[in-house]
Amino acid sequence: MEEHLTVGRVAELAGVTVRTLHHYDEVGLVQPSSRTSAGYRAYAAADVERLREVLTYRRLGFGLREIADLVDDPATDAVAHLRRLRGLLLDQRDRAAAMVTAIDRELEARAMGIRTTPEEQLKVFGAQLYDAIGSAYPATRRTEPRIAARIWDALGDARTILNVGAGTGSYEPPDRDVAAVEPSAVMRAQRPAGAAPCVAAGAESLPFEDQSFDAAMAVSTVHHWPDPVAGLREMRRVARRVVVFTYEADHPGWAERFWLIRDYLPEVAGLLTGRPALADLARAIGGRTEPVAVPWDCADGFFEAYWRRPEAYLDEHVRRAVSVWTRVGPQAEQRAVRTLGDDLSSGRWAERNRKLVALEEAELGLRLLTAGPERE
Ligand SMILES: C[S@@+](CC[C@H](N)C(=O)[O-])C[C@H]1O[C@@H](n2cnc3c(N)ncnc32)[C@H](O)[C@@H]1O
Repeated sequence: MEEHLTVGRVAELAGVTVRTLHHYDEVGLVQPSSRTSAGYRAYAAADVERLREVLTYRRLGFGLREIADLVDDPATDAVAHLRRLRGLLLDQRDRAAAMVTAIDRELEARAMGIRTTPEEQLKVFGAQLYDAIGSAYPATRRTEPRIAARIWDALGDARTILNVGAGTGSYEPPDRDVAAVEPSAVMRAQRPAGAAPCVAAGAESLPFEDQSFDAAMAVSTVHHWPDPVAGLREMRRVARRVVVFTYEADHPGWAERFWLIRDYLPEVAGLLTGRPALADLARAIGGRTEPVAVPWDCADGFFEAYWRRPEAYLDEHVRRAVSVWTRVGPQAEQRAVRTLGDDLSSGRWAERNRKLVALEEAELGLRLLTAGPERE
């Protein structure tokens, strides 16, 4: 007969309280598969395995709801979970080591009477956001073919490509030799089987020799980099050509351009305070910019993608796959969703945005920044 462990023994071994185990049972996260004759919870080997996964994800900072989705995913078996957990733990160890180094540096600087800048102090936290929100990404984020065509065209005849801030690998050209760089372990773990090899690193310090690639690309990522200018210079160092898909938010009145920011989420402007202007980024690498219109049925669910499908923003899955909604905070998010929902029901949104319905694509400030030799 299979051996079972009592709740007290499991709590003791795992270093958690019996109350925690009862709570996991009540919310359906880890339910012991049997009871003793006296009616106490009894944990079989499979229950313990599931508990181990739950506790490790918990230790890594995941919320209980998120953990339930992860451990209940039928596509992930025990070995896949162990691999993912191993990657996440190694990443955490690396980050802890980086933080110790940063603290040591600051202590040294302070001892010499030097104050570190806010940017320097925050640098080490750069990649954490996507470890927290990345698991929601694949639900709506994928390659939009019309934007991919623009990016691939800008890559010219480049054969070897580095994709920086590569995430799950959208927009990686299938017919070229691609290598990827992505600091978030959660995003790396979600790259599909057969995707280009991916190294754990940030844009600001690319682990490659000068001019190792024909081109380096970065899609929807530069606004997350603690130091975008340093990251773009790194791309320029390792590659002959640079292609970046990003947005321009520095000319007067830019916030009026998109109704979602203008009428519902003005907090987005605050997220951009202190970020370098696109013109400065272009200047830093001797680049040029061109507009990229967003098609009305854009397949990649980025922030602006649903400009003609406003109901989409009421969907939690759509919002969770876009960092802006997490970064503005739950209060602003809830208010925006509530007001938008009201305006859609009352017809106010339709009245205000009548002109959009006839458009096939919209200019919402998205830009392609390219640098390097002109295409032959
Ligand atoms: C919105 S996702 C875009 C992912 C992918 N390029 C795409 O188009 O789907 C932004 C990505 O930038 C990554 N990122 C954050 N900080 C970074 C940094 N300093 N250097 C490189 N990538 C970074 C995040 O981990 C995340 O995967």
